[in-house]
Amino acid sequence: MNPETARSVQRAAEKGTQRCILPGCRAVFALRERIYVCPRCGGPLEIECNLDATGDAPALREKWKARAASDDPRDRSGVWRYREILPFEDVERVVTLLEGNTPLYDARRCAEYVGLHSLRLKHQGCNPTGSFKDTGMTVAVTQAVRLGASTAVCASTGNTGASLAAYSARAGLQCAILVPQGQITAAKLAQSMDYGAVVCEIDGNFDDCMRLIQELGDDPSIYIANSINPFRIEGQKTVAFELMQQCSWQVPDNVVVPGGNMGNSSAFGKGFDEMLRLGLIDRLPKLSIIQASAAAPLARLFASLDSTKPMDESQFPTDLAPVADPRTLATAIKIGAPVSWRKALRAVMKSRGQIITVEEQEIADAKAMIGRDGIGCEPASATTVAGIRKLVASGHIQRNEFVVAVLTGHVLKDPDYVSHYHRGTLMQPSHDGSRRPIEGAYRNAPEHVPATKKAILEKLLSRR
Ligand code: F0G
Repeated sequence: MNPETARSVQRAAEKGTQRCILPGCRAVFALRERIYVCPRCGGPLEIECNLDATGDAPALREKWKARAASDDPRDRSGVWRYREILPFEDVERVVTLLEGNTPLYDARRCAEYVGLHSLRLKHQGCNPTGSFKDTGMTVAVTQAVRLGASTAVCASTGNTGASLAAYSARAGLQCAILVPQGQITAAKLAQSMDYGAVVCEIDGNFDDCMRLIQELGDDPSIYIANSINPFRIEGQKTVAFELMQQCSWQVPDNVVVPGGNMGNSSAFGKGFDEMLRLGLIDRLPKLSIIQASAAAPLARLFASLDSTKPMDESQFPTDLAPVADPRTLATAIKIGAPVSWRKALRAVMKSRGQIITVEEQEIADAKAMIGRDGIGCEPASATTVAGIRKLVASGHIQRNEFVVAVLTGHVLKDPDYVSHYHRGTLMQPSHDGSRRPIEGAYRNAPEHVPATKKAILEKLLSRR
């Protein structure tokens, strides 16, 4: 057997392949190859799962529903429960913290705030390490173990690092995270320290950390766990499946996500696409991405395209002009050169969604409103509610449409931001060192109250 035939036989025995997404290349590689970009052209890779043997849609739905009641950790995980659509032949050993299984809430006050009859919030902050990253990390770290890697590494604005640190600890792998010094929240840093990672604080921003990661990927001892790694996207796409199950397979009109490095939006796009191919849904929801206005390279590119007409992938721009010095208080999405922009753009264009920006003030007030619904989230997540408000106002979303906003991180990921907002000391990010506070419309600062029953009752009366 010649080497090329041997390779294709091996590939056939696997549950899929890795494929370059660039229209001019489309090179194919085996799943077990430790690659993060196309070795032929440097383009982004994605996993092409073999979905033929998964069974029909009603059978899949029944199987996934039944597994939620099982005691097997692989069934209880909200990621491995959907293993038919994951690129693994066997799932004997997986690295799991029982991720996924996150709530879909009705948010009455937020609905009113954005001008909709109803609004649902899918809270990915309810994952084991408090962010959506866990759904991708369980798969990426499982693959790292299979490949015999000794060290898992990522660049991070905080959440990817915390998640990788936790899953590496579970797997007994060394973990190193590269974070921009002084630019990630204390809570995220604390998590990574606690989970035993080697925390490397780098002079520079997230994009500098990401460049370093791509250099490190050449080292045979290193396994990269950023979302350029297509296995991460495979895990994160299951969130779309879980969401649809929670919606009784009724397709929302719009699904809205924050945009940073663009792994999350890419994963939702892939998930919905596969569900359509499997006959689990009959149409795609519009997928829209919201960026912070001073960290919005993809929104800028999108604004330069004619999104009203269908666009073939071969007509996509070849480059994204990065934002050199991104600024936002939503530190999770303070990113100027998102690595997965092309996949995200493809998903938005295909579903006829939007990519827009919101201001710091809008993010802060939307976040407080999510709090008022008793839900809470970290600042980056609140871009969704702020963005939906704008999309309703501009007529892109109609008042009676079925809309889901994806919250990506827990409210306790950034308690300093929350406290400053409510005390009126949250300052706008600035280039010139000027200090301008955000005027929080929903401020709720603690107040001194004398230690008497009367004073407390009077205070309550005054606030009714
Ligand atoms: N929301 C939160 C809470 C995040 O942590 C991130 C990304 C995003 C949204 C954006 O998601 O990058 O997939 O578009 N955080 C990364 C990190 C960059 O390192 O934790 P994306």
